Amino acid sequence: MQTVALGRTRERIPAIGMGTWKMPNDSNGCINALREGAAMGMSLIDTAEMYANEEMVGRALRSIDSQVFVATKVSPHHFREKDVLSACDASLKRLGIETIDLYQLHWPNHSVPIKETMRAMETLVKEGKIRHIGVSNFSIEEMVDAQAALKREEIVSNQVEYSVFVRAIERDMLEFCQKEHVTVIAYSPLARGAISRPKSHAVQSVLEELAAKHSKTPAQVALNYLISHKGVAAIPKASAMQHVKENSEAAGWRLSRHEVERLAAAGGTGRPMVSGPTAWLAKNMSVWSSLMEKMERGRRAKAGRR
Ligand SMILES: NC(=O)c1ccc[n+]([C@@H]2O[C@H](COP(=O)([O-])OP(=O)(O)OC[C@H]3O[C@@H](n4cnc5c(N)ncnc54)[C@H](OP(=O)(O)O)[C@@H]3O)[C@@H](O)[C@H]2O)c1
Repeated sequence: MQTVALGRTRERIPAIGMGTWKMPNDSNGCINALREGAAMGMSLIDTAEMYANEEMVGRALRSIDSQVFVATKVSPHHFREKDVLSACDASLKRLGIETIDLYQLHWPNHSVPIKETMRAMETLVKEGKIRHIGVSNFSIEEMVDAQAALKREEIVSNQVEYSVFVRAIERDMLEFCQKEHVTVIAYSPLARGAISRPKSHAVQSVLEELAAKHSKTPAQVALNYLISHKGVAAIPKASAMQHVKENSEAAGWRLSRHEVERLAAAGGTGRPMVSGPTAWLAKNMSVWSSLMEKMERGRRAKAGRR
């Protein structure tokens, strides 16, 4: 599997990893998908305490013989120092591992000072409970503040929405991350499945044309577009085995620069899923945090009942 440098570390991560959002906690099918995907080289698994499926990911990890890079996230309503520490312990327990490879702040929360959150993250590194610190859905300004709040560690990654349809990060975030050696982890890289039913005929026809030319599928071309940018890894979620295989073969070959430019010209700049006033609320209001907490509790209760 093609790899991407992780921040300024000497480590490399697979260019194509696996997302797990909406994978149920009790799904044996998803365990199989993750196990097979890891065997095919997609040995990075991304989850979050908010997905309420870390136990399932843990079972998948125990079924995999080879090394897997485990990424999970702490929810914004746990950004107080003591909450970060206990959220991490809970994730470790659910995952059944001793160290999380990449622990990410899921979403900025301006109602908690970033210094306090980052102090806890550095404690976790020191204690060997996490190896690397990442963020998710952070703007450039928020990343600068978050890095300034760290005393010893560096932010190695920012997980953001990025697909051929949603290319907002190409405005300035991508360049910033490349310059600062922060790996971009592209989430919803297949536009949450919309790749199979694109709204834009322009994108669809270029994807199909390039797919035919390279003997690939449109989804593979769409993923290759992302990882052809320096410092970008993508984490598609696939529970269908055919999708798992297809995604694993989206790396190891290259679209030409001209083909990348053609796709960019055809693709929309697309707004991220959460943008405008909703994004402002998400970052600033503690009411949003408690709402997310409620949602998470609901999901956990539901998962427990199943
Ligand atoms: N940090 C954040 O705030 C955040 C937000 C959203 C997502 N994420 C992360 O990013 C991961 C991926 O994003 P996502 O789950 O939103 O969406 P996605 O990966 O863009 O799309 C997933 C959908 O695409 C389908 N699919 C997978 N491979 C395919 C292929 N080769 N051809 C056609 N369809 C295919 C899947 O179907 P099947 O499952 O049926 O195979 C599923 O319906 C998440 O799972 C999560 O880990 C993070």
